[in-house]
Amino acid sequence: MRRKAKQTETEEAGIREVVEKSGLRHIAFIMDGNGRWAKAKGMPREFGHIAGAGVMKKIVRYCRDIGIKYYTIYAFSTENMKRPQHEIEAIFTLLLKTVNEAMDEENVEFRFIGDIDALGEKIASKCHELEEKKAGGAVRLNIAFNYGGRDEIVRSVNRLIAEGRTEVTEQDISDHTDTRDCPDPDLIIRTGNEMRLSNFLLWQSAYSELYFSDRMWPDFTTEDVDQAVREFAKRTRRWGGV
Ligand code: IPE
Ligand code: IPE
Ligand code: MG
Repeated sequence: MRRKAKQTETEEAGIREVVEKSGLRHIAFIMDGNGRWAKAKGMPREFGHIAGAGVMKKIVRYCRDIGIKYYTIYAFSTENMKRPQHEIEAIFTLLLKTVNEAMDEENVEFRFIGDIDALGEKIASKCHELEEKKAGGAVRLNIAFNYGGRDEIVRSVNRLIAEGRTEVTEQDISDHTDTRDCPDPDLIIRTGNEMRLSNFLLWQSAYSELYFSDRMWPDFTTEDVDQAVREFAKRTRRWGGV
């Protein structure tokens, strides 16, 4: 038992070094597959979301421990509004509860990204309250909630128009996105065996490395994070150069 704990510690130190050397600052997760995971067990989709919320807490803590400074989690897309009302309500309740509990994690600063205000006064004020409760942490966690990449670009441009701009640069748009105070994601990990972005971080993902896992999100483990990080470290990023 003792030996195993020691080995795990060494592994964690090893992966911390890989993170540092690879220059990996920002990981974004598309946590997909909760519904299918539950269905395979003969359970309602909500059961998968409950399991997924537990995994989210575990992964957040782990990413902080291995030295990731920024991480973003896709929790609910603008298109997920097409789902049945009972599933939407279950996800909202669970998400706010999970974020509140994850607040106990030290040194993690939270920010919701997405069109929070469109969710109504009650939810929006709860989100802002949670953000303020945990301002100024050493690492940053963005929760994408009612988030759509296209919607975010439109909101960014509208902010610029409201400032009176008639012409904009790429930098202007970057500076008005919901993630304006974060570097672009270096690595985007999607679980659930689907190879698409589903409207996630469209502007910011221009040069992100993509990693797809066939595991459903409730089965995703810290070892899977390690595997993705090691794969990232082997990639050659050229940004269009030679
Ligand atoms: C991801 O799991 C969570 C959300 C999109 C809210 P899904 O609910 O999409 O699960 P699958 O993809 O249907 O299995
Ligand atoms: C993407 O998953 C959104 C989140 C993970 C929150 P979806 O399950 O909504 O994506 P599609 O519909 O399979 O593209
Ligand atoms: Mg899905």
